[in-house]
Amino acid sequence: MVQISPSILACDFARLGEDIKDVCMRGIDYLHIDVMDGMFVPNISFGAGVMKSTLSYATVPYDVHLMIEKPDRYIEDFITPNTEFVTVHYEACDDLKATLDHIHSLGVKAGVSIKPATSPEVLEPYLDDIDLVLVMSVEPGFGGQKFKDNCLPKIKWLADREHSHLIEVDGGVGSTNAHLVREAGVDIIVAGSAVFKAADRSAEILAIKG
Ligand code: DX5
Ligand code: ZN
Repeated sequence: MVQISPSILACDFARLGEDIKDVCMRGIDYLHIDVMDGMFVPNISFGAGVMKSTLSYATVPYDVHLMIEKPDRYIEDFITPNTEFVTVHYEACDDLKATLDHIHSLGVKAGVSIKPATSPEVLEPYLDDIDLVLVMSVEPGFGGQKFKDNCLPKIKWLADREHSHLIEVDGGVGSTNAHLVREAGVDIIVAGSAVFKAADRSAEILAIKG
């Protein structure tokens, strides 16, 4: 079964702990932590301090998505006992191999995310060092955007190759379109608005997982 990683960007930040506690009781697999710096993306979300303040409410591992320039400066701040993945953007790294080694040196799994306009082929030389490929199905920066289906051939390309990395998709996914990315071969689905704004969160989570 496909795994689900709800994005806390869609939470009510005034009730962040309660929202996290609530979804953790509904069969999710990871929590997706969307970090934005206002430079790599035209929005600012939150820093490591906010993420660390949520740890006591969470019962699933953290899937950290760094949408920041020069991520090597901050990777270590996001390493906690709960951090399973730290994902950086291909487009934000000057030396991706060095950044992947840096993440691995801190004892967590390394993810690389590609924006809608970036082809997965650019990752070919690095795939042996990548634990997770995060395919963006929206322009990074905001939750609640419309799903871009040009992610589907990218997911298929990644899934069709001999590979050990996981494939994750991020942006505009919910129960009405999750079957598209499941059929394309995704392993983990990020869903923010679809889960946290759902009338019945458990039903939405189950429907997304398929
Ligand atoms: C966008 C973030 C996504 C987004 C997903 O830059 O990387 O994780 O928050 O939110 P929804 O599921 O609401 O599109
Ligand atoms: Zn994200």
